[in-house]
Amino acid sequence: MTPKQQTFFRTRLDSARGRVEETLDFLLPTGAGAQGVLADAMRHGTLNGGKRMRAFLTIEVADLFDTNPERADRVAASVECLHAYSLVHDDLPCMDNDDLRRGQPTVHKKWDEATAVLAGDGLQTLAFEILAAPETHEDGEVRAALLLSLAQNSGLSGMVGGQMLDIAAETTASHDQAEIEKIQMLKTGALIAHAAVSGAILAQAKPTDRRAIHDYACDLGSAYQIADDILDVTGDEAETGKALGKDAGAGKATFVDLLGLEGATVRAKELVDRACERLSSFGPDADALRFAAQYTVSRRS
Ligand code: IPE
Ligand code: IPE
Ligand code: MG
Ligand code: MG
Ligand code: MG
Repeated sequence: MTPKQQTFFRTRLDSARGRVEETLDFLLPTGAGAQGVLADAMRHGTLNGGKRMRAFLTIEVADLFDTNPERADRVAASVECLHAYSLVHDDLPCMDNDDLRRGQPTVHKKWDEATAVLAGDGLQTLAFEILAAPETHEDGEVRAALLLSLAQNSGLSGMVGGQMLDIAAETTASHDQAEIEKIQMLKTGALIAHAAVSGAILAQAKPTDRRAIHDYACDLGSAYQIADDILDVTGDEAETGKALGKDAGAGKATFVDLLGLEGATVRAKELVDRACERLSSFGPDADALRFAAQYTVSRRS
């Protein structure tokens, strides 16, 4: 990316972040007593930073098809709630056992494990509630399509299934490329694909356009997880806001483990190039999405 392209992308990402954080602040609950504690934990897990890449994808794809921005903001907030839930649970002692997330204590550290389990549960149901509400779209068929996409991409055939494979792989001696690709696609690629495709569903875009966006986001999502695995080795904890250098010791199945840092970098770049090619039919209107794919592998946080 040229400096000019970087500035263009940064401005768009900052704009998406500002919009989704305002929407999240409005949609996340507050309360008193024990429910208030849970609401605070949900807010901590969601509003404590984050790059907002998934929100960016929803908002940019919706914009590509000239959709109402307030609706896109709600769909973007929904995917960020689902993602935040996945992180709150991913950090639990029974999973990756992490104390730091986005530069702050993880939910189970700030409160306790039961609160973290429930905060994740609450965020997950909130993600579905936002999509189901008529404010998201007046057409029930559009809302049903959004809900189906989120359910399919976050459940057993998506993020949750990928997290199960990720944990199971920790105790398996070796993993081939196909296994690692499957884990990445499910645990990370699926929700990223939903984030992008939901912008096209909201816009009632034609099936060929939806397919192109889907294929772009699957490649971007796989590259995104490879970059996360590379950062686990080469990253800076102050920049990423999470503990690094843990994957090898935990026996995680990654491209870094299989191909080394250089091989993993080459693979991520191939995926990014392919992601950009998938957008050829949209011309320069899709430049922000192309730059997002480049950013995916150049990012330091
Ligand atoms: C972290 O996701 C977990 C992965 C799926 C790689 P992000 O790197 O997008 O985390 P935030 O939202 O910016 O904190
Ligand atoms: C997380 O992958 C994927 C999720 C679905 C949450 P990682 O376990 O590598 O993510 P980090 O490194 O903790 O952010
Ligand atoms: Mg994990
Ligand atoms: Mg983790
Ligand atoms: Mg990681």
